[in-house]
Amino acid sequence: MSLLPESRRAGAILTVDLDAVAANWRLLRDLGRAQGKPVECAAVLKADAYGLGAAQVGRRLWAEGCRFFFAAHVEEGIALRAAVPEAWICVLNGLLPGTDAELVEHRLVPALNDLGQVSAWRSCAQRVVQPLDAVIHLDTGMNRLGLNPDEAMLLANDRMRLRGLRLALLMSHLVSSERPADTTNRAQLERFRQFVARMPGAPASLANSSGVFLGPDYHFDLMRPGAALYGINPTPDTANPMRPTVALMARILQVRQIEAMAGVGYNHDWRSGRPTRIAVVAAGYADGYMRSLGNRGEVAIEGHKAKVVGRVSMDLLTIDVTDLPEGLAVPGAFVELVGPNLPPDAVAVAARTNGYEILTNLGDRYHRIYSGAAS
Ligand SMILES: Cc1ncc(COP(=O)(O)O)c(C=O)c1O
Repeated sequence: MSLLPESRRAGAILTVDLDAVAANWRLLRDLGRAQGKPVECAAVLKADAYGLGAAQVGRRLWAEGCRFFFAAHVEEGIALRAAVPEAWICVLNGLLPGTDAELVEHRLVPALNDLGQVSAWRSCAQRVVQPLDAVIHLDTGMNRLGLNPDEAMLLANDRMRLRGLRLALLMSHLVSSERPADTTNRAQLERFRQFVARMPGAPASLANSSGVFLGPDYHFDLMRPGAALYGINPTPDTANPMRPTVALMARILQVRQIEAMAGVGYNHDWRSGRPTRIAVVAAGYADGYMRSLGNRGEVAIEGHKAKVVGRVSMDLLTIDVTDLPEGLAVPGAFVELVGPNLPPDAVAVAARTNGYEILTNLGDRYHRIYSGAAS
């Protein structure tokens, strides 16, 4: 553990391994290219790169050769533009009224989610007297964002609606890609193929992380992984092919011995069945360590697991270290909350959520260390 003053002061340290993110991107890119087709691999960096830091991840992936990036909000796109000045950046949430000038200024491409947005973006292109890149987002079954089938038909039958725009991408998003046997995958693939066939010449994109593993039919021209870049398992039924990217280590503040049947923490939500050694750890729900992990989560000290006991409070959590070897759980020692011994997917099971939510909750209260090649 680094001895820089910031690390010494920190209650908890989040280490992000940028080399691992880069290795994960290369693995996905190579899967896309395995058939010898020129499939590109983008990177989804919305929500601050799923909590890891969009600027750092963006710069590292740019250096690795990634040229296509996706954010959710205009604000995220603007921040990302500063990190990767030459990248192609798409804003997935689309064209919000009154944002077109900023999109143009920062060279951001909105995913156009309905025909109204198509026409507004076209008007913008006319106003600025330059052709603007456009992404058409087709809803093939999610029933969330994107053109509905009727709108898609209208657009395919009247390409003049796109005049003044450069059709940079046709995209759609899969509903159940992490479940390969779900028939929705094929149904969406067929709907998307039909649309792509009606819009010849435009590059297409369907696969998110798990979609990459559904096979080459799903790769099209551009894959759009997010979660797998950050180490979340895109193939939940089999071993995780991705490298872990984060380690969240929090310090023990105090260790206390309590009697049998003593309660711990708010409302005494947990009681010891025996004389117990409790370590108090410097992370809580305000740090993104979820409250639902109270009495359910596990941590690791030097690879030895210990249970979270009692409620997770705002800045603290309590763990039972009675059975740990002497000398490990001492004030100042670091406890792994998320990391190689406790991957986000495993923490998520205990928290009754998914790995995405574990990562996007990490927040900015931890002291951060970015390891791996400088970006
Ligand atoms: C439209 C779109 N494409 C791609 C992704 C990346 O998905 P994943 O993180 O599952 O790879 C997302 C994330 O939810 C998304 O909303």
